[in-house]
Amino acid sequence: MAVRIIGTGSYLPKKVADNRFLSTIVDTDDEWIRQRTGIKERHLSNGKEGTTYMATYAAEAALENAGIGAEELDMIIIATVSADTYVPSTSCSVQGAIGAIRATCFDLNAACSGFLFALNTAYAYIEMGMAKTVLIAGSETLSREVDWSDRSSCILFGDGAGAAVIRQEEGDGGLLASVTGSDGSQGDVLTCKGRGIQNPFHSSKRKKDYIRMDGQAVFRFAVRTVPRCIKQILKKTNTDAEDIKFFVLHQANVRIIEVIAKRLQVDLDKFPMNLDHYGNTSSASIPILLDELNRNHLLERGDKLILSGFGGGLTWGAVLLEW
Ligand code: ACO
Repeated sequence: MAVRIIGTGSYLPKKVADNRFLSTIVDTDDEWIRQRTGIKERHLSNGKEGTTYMATYAAEAALENAGIGAEELDMIIIATVSADTYVPSTSCSVQGAIGAIRATCFDLNAACSGFLFALNTAYAYIEMGMAKTVLIAGSETLSREVDWSDRSSCILFGDGAGAAVIRQEEGDGGLLASVTGSDGSQGDVLTCKGRGIQNPFHSSKRKKDYIRMDGQAVFRFAVRTVPRCIKQILKKTNTDAEDIKFFVLHQANVRIIEVIAKRLQVDLDKFPMNLDHYGNTSSASIPILLDELNRNHLLERGDKLILSGFGGGLTWGAVLLEW
């Protein structure tokens, strides 16, 4: 039996903010942003396009692409660090919106690695016989979580959602192996501490905090950890990097991806990128890219892909799958 992705979908907000527009908000310019990050523009929510809204549209697109109805879903797992509400979870709200009446639903937070962790979780539930068909998604409204006066971080992020339907089917292939990890001792290099403490037993008057990041530390972490875990997964499965059609990486920064490709000694052409148009959409970046590859008919049955993410927590992971 194989556990495979049978459909993908995505949603990007209609509003596009290019670097020139950002230079009217903070002291920056198009050249600096493009040279340091590769980002030219990003999509930003109009306010109505929240995390649930975008996840719902991405989920509907994935179901349509898979050719199944919402009532066939046994489970919905949504990865997000920017849910509209703590309760209900984004996945329960999406369930209500799409009518997935049989599904068990919960959210998951592993920052930019969230989609991969959701994929692994879905796989584990399926392997245990607790689910057969699972919808997973990454959805983020990061424009609500960035400090629009901090030029070192606000230029990096965008909003969007990507989804996939996972199903157990006859045959070979599908998800083949996975490597994941976390390092909470380095959590401070990338934080979003939320709404502060409003408890009568605490004296803190801290208000909502935004995404804060030690950019260079995150850079070093990414270029050290991602090649290592990709090498681990190749070794574990006795697979040659040459046999991988695409390395679908978290879309944070073109320079990070270039260094990773170099360290793996793999041609950069095997690393599809769309971060120039979307910026870093955290847990949504891998499924949005996967959906683009799928809809552009660049994936064929039997193609081997490695998906790899890294992010806050710190968290990281890589998955090897056969399309
Ligand atoms: N426009 C113009 N100048 C800027 C900007 C900006 N938007 N932001 C910072 N600068 C200035 C700084 O103030 C600094 O000026 P100074 O030399 O006068 O002090 C100078 O540019 C260099 O700043 P650095 O922070 O050293 O720039 P760096 O080359 O490290 O690039 C960046 C910053 C792009 C954030 C880089 O560190 C990076 O890519 N890090 C990876 C982090 C990342 O991609 N995170 C994404 C989120 S995390 C995740 O997805 C896991």
